[in-house]
Amino acid sequence: EKYSIALLPGDGIGVDVVREGRKVLETISNIHGGYSFSFTEFDWSCEYYAKHGKMMPDDGLEILKNFDSIFLGAVGYPGVPDHVSLWGLLLPIRRQFEQYINLRPVKLLKGIQSPLAGKTSKDLDFIVIRENNEGEYSSIGGRMYEGTDMDMAIQNSVFTRKGVERVLRYAFNVAQKQGKRGHVTAATKSNGINHTMPFWDEYVEKISHEYPGISHDTVHIDALAAFFVSKPETMDVVVASNLFGDILTDLGAAIVGGLGIAPSANINPEKKYPSMFEPVHGSAPDIAGKGIANPLASIWCTSMMLDHLGQPESAKAIIDAMEDVLQEKEVLTPDLGGHSTTEQVGDYICEKLRAR
Ligand code: NAI
Ligand code: MG
Repeated sequence: EKYSIALLPGDGIGVDVVREGRKVLETISNIHGGYSFSFTEFDWSCEYYAKHGKMMPDDGLEILKNFDSIFLGAVGYPGVPDHVSLWGLLLPIRRQFEQYINLRPVKLLKGIQSPLAGKTSKDLDFIVIRENNEGEYSSIGGRMYEGTDMDMAIQNSVFTRKGVERVLRYAFNVAQKQGKRGHVTAATKSNGINHTMPFWDEYVEKISHEYPGISHDTVHIDALAAFFVSKPETMDVVVASNLFGDILTDLGAAIVGGLGIAPSANINPEKKYPSMFEPVHGSAPDIAGKGIANPLASIWCTSMMLDHLGQPESAKAIIDAMEDVLQEKEVLTPDLGGHSTTEQVGDYICEKLRAR
């Protein structure tokens, strides 16, 4: 089997980390055989925007549609407002390709020290599922009375039956198939947000009846954020709306080693469209061009991609290689206390893959 992958390195360190991710995909497919990759790279980025006044060509989505997966580094760079880079590239891909699941594992890999070490008893290993297509990130709203003392802004949220049911079903399914404790925790805020969140809660109850073997609870987002720190070992599958999920997943990343290793997947579960894999981190202008960005987040993304493409053994081999390298602590980038470069870490992961 040959998988076609669209590479969107984007801006800043996105370029460096996607290069290493590609290397890992090539290496593992050579080792395991039976499948291979063809890569096509696109220079859509803030630099592209500076030249063309848009983040991607008008037929960009048409072009991407036929790939098996998309591998993105990061977009965003000083000089181009963040909402331009986001709404010009990332969000159209997520929405047009119905990547309504944003999947982020919160798993403490061997060799990583959690800032919560000593405070929690068990292994940290759970999964956060963020709704990725609607919710609070809608562009409905506007500014009024600018320049007067009545200056104001309104932003509406959109919660639909279709959108809510499908993300909840996905979460309960994950709890059923791969959850450790068969439990779903749904984030809410129905005390303060009195239309959309009670709507969300109602559907949590409704969908839960389709999964009698799975337990669930609904927790206000503020309390849930605290639980991520005070008792993260009680989490199994967490499901949240777009904004709440965005915040929770950065918090989740922070308790298992930080942005340098945190991966995410934007999934179209029906596989009608390509899914997109991207590190949680951004383009990191503060370290861009220095060659010291940690490629492990994007390498973890390649593992998630292989899982999605139906190559679970290769996916696991990459996690194992990452744990080897993290435990040895010989070849790590400065964010993890090491002195190595992005390229050295990528090469070393490949060496570990070959040695296994
Ligand atoms: P950022 O994630 O780029 O950087 C935050 C901090 O973490 C920086 O100190 C950076 O050096 C460090 N860091 C991030 N990734 C790292 C890695 N792989 N290795 C070592 N250190 C790493 O977030 P920031 O600074 O808020 O945003 C910078 C730009 O990236 C903005 O334009 C933002 O809009 C964009 N961005 C894009 C995202 C995407 O494309 N999905 C996601 C987040 C931010
Ligand atoms: Mg975020």
